[in-house]
Amino acid sequence: MTQQAISEETGFEAIRTWLERTCAIHYPPTKRALLHQRLGRAQRSLGMSTLSQMAQALQHADARDVQLAIMHAASTNHTYFYREKDVLGSFRAEVMPLLATRSEIRLWSAACSTGDEVYTLAIMIAEAFGPEALRRTHILGTDISAPVIERAEAGVFPRRQLEQVPDAILRRYMHPVGIDQFRINDEIRAACTFRRMNLKKAPFPFQRPFQAVFCRNVLYYFAHADQVDVVNSVADVTEPGGWLVTSVTENVRELSTRWTPVTSGISRKSERAM
Ligand SMILES: C[S@@+](CC[C@H](N)C(=O)[O-])C[C@H]1O[C@@H](n2cnc3c(N)ncnc32)[C@H](O)[C@@H]1O
Repeated sequence: MTQQAISEETGFEAIRTWLERTCAIHYPPTKRALLHQRLGRAQRSLGMSTLSQMAQALQHADARDVQLAIMHAASTNHTYFYREKDVLGSFRAEVMPLLATRSEIRLWSAACSTGDEVYTLAIMIAEAFGPEALRRTHILGTDISAPVIERAEAGVFPRRQLEQVPDAILRRYMHPVGIDQFRINDEIRAACTFRRMNLKKAPFPFQRPFQAVFCRNVLYYFAHADQVDVVNSVADVTEPGGWLVTSVTENVRELSTRWTPVTSGISRKSERAM
C-alpha cells in the first residue's frame, strides 16, 4: 500500500469512528463501499481533495460545515407518505381514540427525514377529529440532517413520495405547484414544526412530554447499545402510558423493559411514571 493509500484508510476509519461516536450511525464492514461512496460525495461538496484532509478538518473547533456535510452524506433519508400503513392503522385504532379528548395533542417524529411522516400524522388527525383539531395539535419533526429539515419546512413533495396518498386526501390537503410537485396546505403545515436534532445527544431537550413518539426506520442504522439508549431516552420524554411507534422490523422488546409491546410496531410505557 502506498503512503497515500494508508493515509486515506486512516482518514476513512477516523470518520467512520466519529460517525458512530457522535451520531450513532454505525457502518459495519459489509457497508464499507457504501460509506466510501457517500463520504466521497461529502468530500466533493466541501471541495476537499482527500478523505484524510476531511478527517483532519473534522477535528477543528469550527468544523460545523464539515460535520453537517458528513452527517447528511452518511444518512439514509428514504421516506414517503403513509409508510407502513399497517402500523399507521394500528396507531389510528389503538392510540388516536385516546387522544381525541386531549386539550393538546403532542407527537414527535424523532428521525423525520423530509417530514413525510409528520405531515401524514397531521392529515390523519384532521381526518379523524376534523381540521379544527389541528389547532390543538403540535407535531415535532427532528432529524440529524440539515438539508432534509429544510425540505420538510418547505412542505413541497414530488409525486413519487405521495404514491400511497389516496386521491381524495391529496386533493383535500395539498395543491399542485410546478411539474408533479405538491405543497402541503397551510392548516396542516401550521400544526408541524421541524428542528435539526441528534438522537445520540441525550437527555433530549424537551420541557413537556409527548403522548406518542415515532422513531421509525432509524434504529437499524445504530449499534445495539445506541438503540437501547435511544429508546430509553425516548421513554424519558414520553408521558406515563404514552406510546412508541417503530418500524415492524425494529424489536423494542429486545431493547428495553421500559416499553411493553402492544402490537406490531407499537409499544406502550407503563402508566406509572418510570
Ligand atoms: C430512513 S429515514 C426514516 C424517516 C421516517 N422516520 C420513515 O420511517 O420514513 C432515517 C432518518 O434518520 C436520520 N438519522 C440518522 N441518524 C440520526 C441521529 N443520530 N439523530 C437523528 N436523526 C438521525 C437520517 O438523517 C434519516 O433522515
